[in-house]
Amino acid sequence: MPDQREQWKSKLGFVLAAAGSAVGLGNVWRFPFVTGEEGGAAFLIIYIIAIIIIGYPLMVTEISLGRHTQRNPVGAFKSIAPNTPWWLVGALSVLTGFVILSYYSVIAGWSLSYIVKSLAGFPIGIEATEQLFGEHTTSLFEPIFYHFLFMAIVVGVISAGVVKGIQRVVTFLMPVLVVLLLAVVIRAVTLPGAGEGLAFLFRPDFSAVSWDTILAAIGQSFFTLSLGMGAILTYGSYLSKNDEIPNSSVQVIGADALIAIISGMAIFPAVFALGFDPGEGPGLVFVTLPAVFAEMPVGGLFGFLFFVLLSIAALTSAISLLEVVVAYFVDEKQWPRKKASATIGLVAFIVGLFPVLGYSALDHVTFMGMDILDTYDFIADSIMLPLGGAMIAFFAGHVWGTRNVMEEANKSATGIRIGDWAAPLLKYIIPIGVIIVMIVGIIETIGG
Ligand code: PHE
Ligand code: NA
Repeated sequence: MPDQREQWKSKLGFVLAAAGSAVGLGNVWRFPFVTGEEGGAAFLIIYIIAIIIIGYPLMVTEISLGRHTQRNPVGAFKSIAPNTPWWLVGALSVLTGFVILSYYSVIAGWSLSYIVKSLAGFPIGIEATEQLFGEHTTSLFEPIFYHFLFMAIVVGVISAGVVKGIQRVVTFLMPVLVVLLLAVVIRAVTLPGAGEGLAFLFRPDFSAVSWDTILAAIGQSFFTLSLGMGAILTYGSYLSKNDEIPNSSVQVIGADALIAIISGMAIFPAVFALGFDPGEGPGLVFVTLPAVFAEMPVGGLFGFLFFVLLSIAALTSAISLLEVVVAYFVDEKQWPRKKASATIGLVAFIVGLFPVLGYSALDHVTFMGMDILDTYDFIADSIMLPLGGAMIAFFAGHVWGTRNVMEEANKSATGIRIGDWAAPLLKYIIPIGVIIVMIVGIIETIGG
């Protein structure tokens, strides 16, 4: 071991880092468009149930696994169950982090490019979105350049270390994010006609609910909380024994849910007030919103602020994705942190070029009937994360044992503690329920 494992410098350090990981494109880009596609408030309710019964026990478990073992995901499974194949669950986590990072950076790159474009004023919609979503686009330079730029920033932060890199960046950026989001939401809800958008978000219509909706809600609850792939486990491995895991988990989950809902409240009123379609899909934030900003009073300024906040949210999540992979190479392969960051960042950049090509140049090349980026997102979000989450829960429930989970989790907990009610969830309900819903959802999606 070269030197002592780093530790967060304060209680707030971990909570901000974990909330930074959680709050990302998943809240501001993905939550609104999935909610839009899945019919609004009914989806919101299922999603909230999912984050409570799956998200909370799993977050407590992942943090406890990390803090107990002081290792990356692979090392964590190896140290609890040596000489068994359980380390493969850790390996799946590391792989998932890598896959998500590769396309996350592409989307974050769009967001960065919109910051720059918005300086020239809206509508940036027509030209910029032709570039990204048009049928026959010519320039590959921009999406590749911004994808590279974003990845380079992520590599820079991770190279600097846990405290000097991650903690410093989240401590500065998370408050900025909240202020920007409040500014944008106040503008949106005061637009004439905003009420229809709020009704869409808060008035449920259960007739639209299917297995697909439930899978989407479960997939979204993993993705949005950064669960099922060891990011929270890895951040937990830098946590001191004095920190209160159940309490921190509630804070992180609460912050994530609140920011997703506020993002919906910023986006749907604007979309409805100006007569656009909420079911636009992945283009909701990148195609519909720029058009909305173009028509909205002082839309240029709010558009600019919106894309700054979206980019910040993406950055504080992407650093946690890279950290999972880097922690693996640093712990298990003794790579120096800087070398690991730069190498993995570069390879993830290259893997991310396929979705860029699929979206921008080759006339929407498809794979499994989807755009390549949607394929990556589907594989990660609807297969890898639920699979990883189910196996982490099963491992905690049956191999490490729920008693050990609770002992680690409740150590030095003075406020909220995780109770015995979580044991059957970890042992049976999460693994079985998530796998069933995953299989049915995959069949529905692929079968059309
Ligand atoms: N939670 C992040 C978001 O909502 C995405 C993410 C998933 C980050 C998994 C890290 C790990 O955008
Ligand atoms: Na999130």
